[in-house]
Amino acid sequence: MATVDQEQPQAHAPLHVAIVMDGNGRWAKRRGLPRSLGHRAGVESLKRTVAAAPDLNVRWLTVFGFSTENWSRPAAEVSELMALPKRYFESDLARLERDGVRVRVLGRREGLSADLVKMLDEAERRTAHNDKFFLQIAFNYGGQADIVEAARKFAAEVAAGRASPGDLDEAAFAAHLSTGAGPAPDLVIRPSGEQRLSNFLLWESAYSEFVFQDVLWPDYGAEHLEAAIDEFYKRERRYGGAVADDVLATG
Ligand code: FPP
Repeated sequence: MATVDQEQPQAHAPLHVAIVMDGNGRWAKRRGLPRSLGHRAGVESLKRTVAAAPDLNVRWLTVFGFSTENWSRPAAEVSELMALPKRYFESDLARLERDGVRVRVLGRREGLSADLVKMLDEAERRTAHNDKFFLQIAFNYGGQADIVEAARKFAAEVAAGRASPGDLDEAAFAAHLSTGAGPAPDLVIRPSGEQRLSNFLLWESAYSEFVFQDVLWPDYGAEHLEAAIDEFYKRERRYGGAVADDVLATG
């Protein structure tokens, strides 16, 4: 169990954890199964991770479900990926609602089927009053596209005379991203052995700690999240500044 240890550089659990859920295809291939079954197994890992996070003092969890680049996969796989939110919410939305979880879906709704948009909107609407835990699912999401969209929104406000270029600073810009006023991720986790951000939360992860784990997402569970958080406790976050002891030593 990850505990607060005075001797560790991090005294606090990561408030916000973000995960690139990677490795479903390889997991399926190793078992001689179609990739679709890897993705379905990935939904079960998501359920385990959402259940485990609050006990590790995490309050925000953001997961990458479908990237704007995933459209280039074969049509049959895209269609399987499009079916995953339905699979997840049909089994879990009532529980999320009851457990105080607020669901938000980041990314573009354009390009998604009307049925899917309806389901994503419903998940957000039914949990809008909750504030015990925040689950953000990035779906049809790309970090660069999200930054471009934020720039467009701000430019439109300037064009309409509601803002001037001098109003824009980092906080004002961040408020236009799809993550809005939410906290930036303290910890970004990528399982499956890959060490890339893959266009996930580009702006928001500016000062995140990164932990890469050698487990495929369908095998992911509470023990892996706990191990990543244990690693986070050992990290020293400086945000571009110096460590307090070094400042004292140099006067
Ligand atoms: C990447 O693995 C994973 C995805 C493209 C899909 C991730 C989605 C889930 C785990 C379920 C999401 C649930 C909801 C509710 C959206 P990959 O297929 O690229 O794996 P590979 O690198 O081994 O081929």
